Amino acid sequence: MDSILVRGNGPLNGVIPIAGAKNACLTLMPATLLSEEPLTLTNAPRLSDIRTMTQLLQSLGAEVASLKDGLVLAMSSHSIDNHTADYDIVRKMRASILVLGPMLARDGHAIVSLPGGCAIGARPVDLHLKALEAMGAELDLRDGYVHAKAPGGRLKGAVVEFPFVSVGATENALMAATLAKGTTVIKNAAREPEIVDLAHCLKKMGAQIEGEGTSTITVQGVDRLHGATHPVVTDRIELGTYMLAPAICGGEVECLGGRMDLVAAFAEKLDQAGVSVVETERGLKVSRKNGRVKAVDVTTEPFPGFPTDLQAQMMALLCTADGTSVLEEKIFENRFMHAPELMRMGAKIDVHGGTAKVTGVSKLRGAPVMATDLRASVSLILAGLAAEGETVVSRVYHLDRGYERVEEKLMACGAHIERIAGN
Ligand code: EPZ
Repeated sequence: MDSILVRGNGPLNGVIPIAGAKNACLTLMPATLLSEEPLTLTNAPRLSDIRTMTQLLQSLGAEVASLKDGLVLAMSSHSIDNHTADYDIVRKMRASILVLGPMLARDGHAIVSLPGGCAIGARPVDLHLKALEAMGAELDLRDGYVHAKAPGGRLKGAVVEFPFVSVGATENALMAATLAKGTTVIKNAAREPEIVDLAHCLKKMGAQIEGEGTSTITVQGVDRLHGATHPVVTDRIELGTYMLAPAICGGEVECLGGRMDLVAAFAEKLDQAGVSVVETERGLKVSRKNGRVKAVDVTTEPFPGFPTDLQAQMMALLCTADGTSVLEEKIFENRFMHAPELMRMGAKIDVHGGTAKVTGVSKLRGAPVMATDLRASVSLILAGLAAEGETVVSRVYHLDRGYERVEEKLMACGAHIERIAGN
């Protein structure tokens, strides 16, 4: 397993290109199952999760060609000859559940392994299943798999009301609704930019969708969808992560492709903490306004609130802030595993349930630490950039799921960071 060695050093200066969104790509790829015509995605991120989704789609009989060094995914699922998504792929990546809705909508049957939990929580898929049942699906859970059937081979439009916001369940319901017979209204829908991007792609394929980006999405089912070409939206979580690099180290970094509308709540928090975020023609330019950042309180919420996927990274910044910050994690039940690792670096953090109280220290100290999940791993790298001495982050396979070439992007801004090949 590879590790990453980071040496604390001074300010970072330069530009960082932001890739296409992992979490948009992971729902856009299963959309190919909705049509027998080719779907091509451009601006695709080069990540291990994308390779896993590629394997899954290929196991179902779809053709997925990775072109232009992985930036383009040319997909075609004119002949799906297997309707079972196997546990050995699904367990590697929970987003695999997103093939359920499209497969069911297209061919009226699907067998998909339940994803199981992950480090940040149990992460059930009950809302995905309830939504599909509302649309007429008959589901039978056995041997760890969901055996799904649409009576008469076709789902029917329905009112789907979620008790709380779920990104994945909204995506599954939205994709299934495009081919259902009749109208589907999704209430309390997720509003994330990745949902909007999915809806834009589906509309290019001929779907009739209104209200994406709001809490109520209305879909008129159609008989078939055609092919399309669609650019994956910029990754707002990668963007926010790299905005924190000059915030925690000093200096000035321009994030190419960054858009303020994708990170408004996050940028507002940075502003309160004393970090300037300026829109340029090419993206977002970030620098500290004057010296040490100030403590701020953070509560994670569904979009457009502060994203849970930036909580760990923000905690790293607040470990070095002047004052005490309170972070509330409202989305997942166990998403503070980076805290004990940051404490090994001298951070002062008190965790009680879903609340973490962070008392800033003037300097963190480098130490060997362990990545526990995707976003925790990059928060440790940010902390290492600002710490005195050396930090070695182990188990960086977590990192490679969601960040392409992280050491190259940071090195280009002056960071002392290198990958140590593991055995
Ligand atoms: C998506 O996960 C993202 N993953 C996550 O990003 C992100 O943290 C999350 O949305 C919230 O924004 C992808 O898009 C691939 P949810 P998802 O359904 O869809 C509970 C990252 O780091 N829930 O919005 O799984 C769930 O347990 C990853 O890139 C149910 O109880 O998230 C959680 O507590 C991590 N039943 C809450 O809802 C369900 O059926 C929100 O989950 C579904 C979810």
